[in-house]
Amino acid sequence: MVKEITASQLDTDQFIAEKVREIKDAVGGGTAINALSGGVDSSVVTMLGHKALDKQLKTIFIENGLMRAGEPQRVVDLFRKLGVTVEIVDARKEFFSALAGITDPEEKREAITQTFYKNVFGKIVKQSGAKHLLQGTILTDVDETIAGIKRQHNVFEQLGIDPQETFGYKIIEPLIQLRKDGVRKVGKALGLPAELFDRIPFPGPALSARVIGQATPERIELVRKATAIVEKSLKDTKAFQYMAILHDDRVTGMRDGKRDFGQQIELRCWDSVDARTATPTELPFNTLTKVADEIITNVPGIVSVTYNIAAKPPSTIEAV
Ligand code: XMP
Repeated sequence: MVKEITASQLDTDQFIAEKVREIKDAVGGGTAINALSGGVDSSVVTMLGHKALDKQLKTIFIENGLMRAGEPQRVVDLFRKLGVTVEIVDARKEFFSALAGITDPEEKREAITQTFYKNVFGKIVKQSGAKHLLQGTILTDVDETIAGIKRQHNVFEQLGIDPQETFGYKIIEPLIQLRKDGVRKVGKALGLPAELFDRIPFPGPALSARVIGQATPERIELVRKATAIVEKSLKDTKAFQYMAILHDDRVTGMRDGKRDFGQQIELRCWDSVDARTATPTELPFNTLTKVADEIITNVPGIVSVTYNIAAKPPSTIEAV
């Protein structure tokens, strides 16, 4: 059982000092490696690891083809300003071929886990000679995986998987006692800019969690365009998280006086503290119609935009 540290209990200075010591003790004179996605959790782990290990830590950004528009370079540039070197590895082919033909949500998550940990990152870790991998698993990931709600792509031990045996390296998870609100506090205390520690959460399976049905490069590109519009339009709402989801069903629409059997985007915008429960944000109707217009104008083939008004539970934040 992991012992939770709530955001209100958390003493960030003490937490950081403790985790830095633990990371140093575990890695010793060796090297560690971590994958940065630019999300809140992996950004905080990167800074924590950098503080503990400096040059003994190698940080990789895996370009899986499933990231938001402009993301790899943006993240690398932000971390360069913080004195952290991040190397981009192009693995788009590996991820899209692993995802080809898969429609089931849990199979998609499993394909991403396997591709990431075995084929792509696993190989990089082996080549680097690092014996430790730093990872930003948080308590909500563990809870939902154990409860069988979603298999979070970064949870192993609790599923009875030994990473040492399966992948050949040890995993260090310094944030595992925290939830998202606690992680943000640690990020702020570590000196990350607000655009990193206060970012809306983004799931490990990235945009493939935002596509119902097959995650092909073309369908990912559609949801990527819609995501950019939604994130830009809702950034001042103070909502916990907001997203665009591409549906698998087609609906009859019309364009230029002709029938257009088109695609649908679902908008979701959530109020939540720690992602365990969430309610849909009461967005003004004209905000919703403005976002819908922009999506219909700029994302090819979309003829319908809906807004999810169900709470979590029974909904979940991501659709996949
Ligand atoms: P759900 O969809 O389970 O999401 O209500 C709860 C929170 O977790 C994020 N999420 C993930 N984060 N790996 C992650 O690192 C994952 O596989 C994953 N799935 C969901 C989601 O964005 C939300 O903030």
